[in-house]
Amino acid sequence: MTSEPLIHLPTEIVVQIVADVATDKSAQKSLYACCLVSRQWYSCTITFLYENPQLGTGNSFTKFTNTICPPIGVRKSRWNLGSLVHRLDLSALVHHSSPSLTARLLGKVKDNLEVLLAPRTSFASNSLPSLSKCLKLRFLDLSLVASPMLFKDLKKSLSSLEDLRTLRLPQSTSVMESDSFNIPWPPHLRRLQFSGHFLAAPMRTFPWPPSLTTLTLKNCADLSLTNLSSLMCSPDLSRTLKRLTISGQNRHLSADSITSILAMVPELSFLSIPGDMVDGTFFELLCHIGIPTLEVLEFGYPSVDSEVYFTTESLLKALDYGLPNLRAVGFAEIFCSDEDSLDDDAVDDFLLKRAEMRKWLQPGAGTADPGVYYV
Ligand SMILES: *[C@@H]1O[C@H](CO)[C@@H](O)[C@H](O)[C@H]1NC(C)=O
Repeated sequence: MTSEPLIHLPTEIVVQIVADVATDKSAQKSLYACCLVSRQWYSCTITFLYENPQLGTGNSFTKFTNTICPPIGVRKSRWNLGSLVHRLDLSALVHHSSPSLTARLLGKVKDNLEVLLAPRTSFASNSLPSLSKCLKLRFLDLSLVASPMLFKDLKKSLSSLEDLRTLRLPQSTSVMESDSFNIPWPPHLRRLQFSGHFLAAPMRTFPWPPSLTTLTLKNCADLSLTNLSSLMCSPDLSRTLKRLTISGQNRHLSADSITSILAMVPELSFLSIPGDMVDGTFFELLCHIGIPTLEVLEFGYPSVDSEVYFTTESLLKALDYGLPNLRAVGFAEIFCSDEDSLDDDAVDDFLLKRAEMRKWLQPGAGTADPGVYYV
């Protein structure tokens, strides 16, 4: 085969081409191909190839770790490939790894890692020391992590992550005493997903992250009334919290516990609760106390039943009397599939009319996306 002379493109053009290729999520194969074109193309492509590696299928994870942290004796790349990784999604890994391999891998990617979704089985206490060195982490999802680790050890390893804004705690989290309470949270943590087991007594004085604005409760072992109220009763929490989601994936929820939160966090702008855990009492209390700050109310995925136990009329009444600034209502689609359960059109009409009225009374006031939406 006679080889054609290579056409040489200026580096800026090659970067432009590669950047275009990289915008496609499934570009990994094409980027790899670009790397093989020439030395010039390799150096233009390699940062894109490693930025957000796709490791969910086949033996891609093994290939990746063999390259990033080669076994002893294997020749290393001239490039510090680990430092090119910004996002690591290990959530699809099942058996290809171990906690010690995860620890080694984190050691290699620590310089620039910003987003980490931890694997289910191959993350454990011995992965924590390397995690604590990923100083650029912004988003850390440990929600799949099943192996138990001491909450105080986890907190210690996260304390110095200055950039961490979002944290999802492991489903294996356990807060049975207050020994972790004086260990500081990452200083700028804003969004927290809380999970696992806890005892009501120590939780009453649980120090929440000082700048927490968004809290999600998911995979909690027991959110019956006493437990949930102990969790939410801290005045610190109600001072900063703006967005609260109680997922249907919590055990022992009841309509009583859901109603009780109305009184505990009075200044929310967003509230999402499992639709099947709301009853007439919830709306009666809403009419009575009112939450003028609330802008979005979501009846999310059910905890037990695919039915709601309230009437459209009681919801409309609460919108009128207790939620003067509510602009949107979300429904899990499952609640609207049945003709005679909820009248979502009536709710939509109400909200749109209110937005019209508002526009007319206060021109320029922000009423973004009013109406009903589905989740
Ligand atoms: C709260 O939930 C935990 C499970 O997470 C349970 O062991 C405990 O008994 C519950 N109740 C109280 C009052 O702590």
